[in-house]
Amino acid sequence: MGRKKIVVTGGAGYIGSHVAIALWQAGYEPIIIDNFSNSEHRIIDGIKSITGQDVVLHEGDCADQDFLIKVFEKEGVVVGAMHFAAFKAVGESFDKPLEYYHNNIGSLIFLIKAMQESQCRNLVFSSSATVYGEPDELPVTELSPQKLALSPYGNTKQICEKIIEDAAKSGMPLKSIALRYFNPIGAHPSALIGELPLGMPNNLVPVITQTAAGIREKLTVFGNDYDTPDKTCVRDYIDIMDLAEAHVDTLVYLERIKEDNCFDAINVGTGQGHSVAEVLEAFQRINNVKVNFVIGKRRFGDIAKLYANVKKAELVLGWKAKYTIEESLKNAWKWQLAL
Ligand code: UD1
Repeated sequence: MGRKKIVVTGGAGYIGSHVAIALWQAGYEPIIIDNFSNSEHRIIDGIKSITGQDVVLHEGDCADQDFLIKVFEKEGVVVGAMHFAAFKAVGESFDKPLEYYHNNIGSLIFLIKAMQESQCRNLVFSSSATVYGEPDELPVTELSPQKLALSPYGNTKQICEKIIEDAAKSGMPLKSIALRYFNPIGAHPSALIGELPLGMPNNLVPVITQTAAGIREKLTVFGNDYDTPDKTCVRDYIDIMDLAEAHVDTLVYLERIKEDNCFDAINVGTGQGHSVAEVLEAFQRINNVKVNFVIGKRRFGDIAKLYANVKKAELVLGWKAKYTIEESLKNAWKWQLAL
């Protein structure tokens, strides 16, 4: 019997590529869709090298309904879809809100429609801890009230979750889980794939690795006057390999449950908070490399602390993060050196 096909939109991206490999290793066949707006073909080559297999790739845009329908028609029986194709830069979303709403929301709706036409029932949606806004209590659980999202990007994630929930409630055959990622970091231990930020990275770890590599002059620590033990912001950094495993476990779970339609959301983090200063210290120590930094002003929209309650992932999916922050930072540096 052939492998079960899983459509992976944005499969050449940072998270999608690691998930494609995890799917292959779990016995599925990832069917990648990507328009390479924020990735490169070398990532596909990396996936091929790691799996030792050719990769099915459909190059195109998920905000194009006809294209998506054709992909599903061509592939025949597709058991599930994982939706990563979206814009993700918080700052950029303030400058280009319409593009963010059009792309992130449009592509989800088109994907669900294409799935319905081809009897594909299982959807894993790439969501974010950003849906919580600034929570009143930590660690944040899936039942914590959703505050106003702090950016148009955050709004798109809140809206997309709602769209899936309403679609499932309407009775259409759709089983879906939104995985709410905290802060994904690290790279595949082979250093054949990893994050490829275009231009100036927004996220902490790529800025650290690029500074250590001499591509950037310095890291600016955004604020050291927060209400945290060392006064820098605290986040829950989740390794990309652990995150990829969580997607496979979610798919297996969705395939197993009996209902025809359901929606749920699950946090994917470690449950541990680390400050910016701690990440910086750990990176330098584990990799024996220096990172120039200065203390700057707070970044607009940042909150002091955010970390996950991860009991639901363990209970429902049987998943738990395994990587230490040191291992993640080691792999992030290995990937930067490979670049
Ligand atoms: C952001 C988004 C989140 C998104 C994630 C991954 C919000 C509130 N957060 O998380 O939705 O999923 O990116 O794309 O929308 N930092 C510095 N200097 C830098 C860069 C970052 O000090 O040059 C600090 C930040 O202040 C923050 C921490 O590092 O405290 C992590 O920042 P970042 O990697 O950008 O992630 P978040 O803002 O937590």
